[in-house]
Amino acid sequence: MSKRFIVTGCAGFIGSNLVDRLLENGHEVVGVDNLSTGLLRFLERASANPRFRFVRTDLLDLPGLVAAFAGGEVVVHLAANADVRFGTEHPRRDLEQNTIATYNVLEAMRANGIKHIAFSSTGSVYGEASVIPTPEDGPFPIQTSLYGASKAAGEGLISAYCEGFGFQAWIFRFVSILGERYTHGHVFDFYKKLKADPTRLPVLGNGRQRKSYLYVQDCIDAILLAMEKAGEKVNIFNLGVDGYCEVNDSIGWICEELGVKPVLEYSGGDRGWIGDNPFIFLDTRKIQSLGWRPKLDIRAGVIRTVRSLVENPWVFEERK
Ligand SMILES: NC(=O)c1ccc[n+]([C@@H]2O[C@H](COP(=O)([O-])OP(=O)(O)OC[C@H]3O[C@@H](n4cnc5c(N)ncnc54)[C@H](O)[C@@H]3O)[C@@H](O)[C@H]2O)c1
Repeated sequence: MSKRFIVTGCAGFIGSNLVDRLLENGHEVVGVDNLSTGLLRFLERASANPRFRFVRTDLLDLPGLVAAFAGGEVVVHLAANADVRFGTEHPRRDLEQNTIATYNVLEAMRANGIKHIAFSSTGSVYGEASVIPTPEDGPFPIQTSLYGASKAAGEGLISAYCEGFGFQAWIFRFVSILGERYTHGHVFDFYKKLKADPTRLPVLGNGRQRKSYLYVQDCIDAILLAMEKAGEKVNIFNLGVDGYCEVNDSIGWICEELGVKPVLEYSGGDRGWIGDNPFIFLDTRKIQSLGWRPKLDIRAGVIRTVRSLVENPWVFEERK
């Protein structure tokens, strides 16, 4: 059945892919974005569809958000400061963009009588988990990044609105996402550096960090399936593949795909930056129990991402 979706962060990497999918599935979509990191070019296909409307507004502008949400039935809240790395350089940014923005989304929903929300949280909320693979109901985590802390606070607000105002929520804790329209993260950084100088590659940490990644279309499949099938008041799902790789593995695949053999220059230590979790691997049995399986493994996801960056050099002009 066709629904009226509101997608915040619609011009971003995951948001623009989700908008295209929702339109393909016959839904109406109002996309909200302030274009801080999102790109209008990602919405070219959507903009040609009469069932799509773009509203340029900032989530921190509550009256603007209340107006944008009018007539919506379901909100998928993806807008955020999605970069984990620079938290300590701008401590207020994660609070504003991730926590207060989420509060505004909830208030704009309340003002419009919208009760269903899907939220992009992150595996970073687990900090450095003591249980690996990490399940959704593991020990209450200790936060190690301002990003993780701001998303955990967003999750908390959403759950409290479910209890307090009769909302229903689907909260997704993603590993890092890969694929077409990817504009931030390790593949982007490494490719950009190799484009500038294919003979050497600076690597943060010792390259032995173990990370898990998921292809964006697999992520969207999981979100839509969970929203269709999971009927609790608050539904929390880890999203990731059943495995992990070392940063060095990923560098090997990127270099092989590009046909380059750079000298690797490690900054050293087992963490690349404050809050860099040296081992992320989520237990995804809960989402798998609904029948979801990722179609691409990590290597295939990395290679697709590199190819899409090679094919779309304009992204580097617009996302410096
Ligand atoms: N990409 C990943 O690996 C990953 C992993 C875990 C969680 N997430 C989460 O998924 C969501 C989407 O991430 P992404 O990779 O697509 O990031 P992105 O930066 O490509 O997209 C975020 C979008 O939100 C918009 N935005 C940011 N602040 C806004 C504001 N105040 N008002 C209006 N629009 C605003 C940006 O312009 C951008 O279009 C984020 O919530 C992120 O934290 C992403």
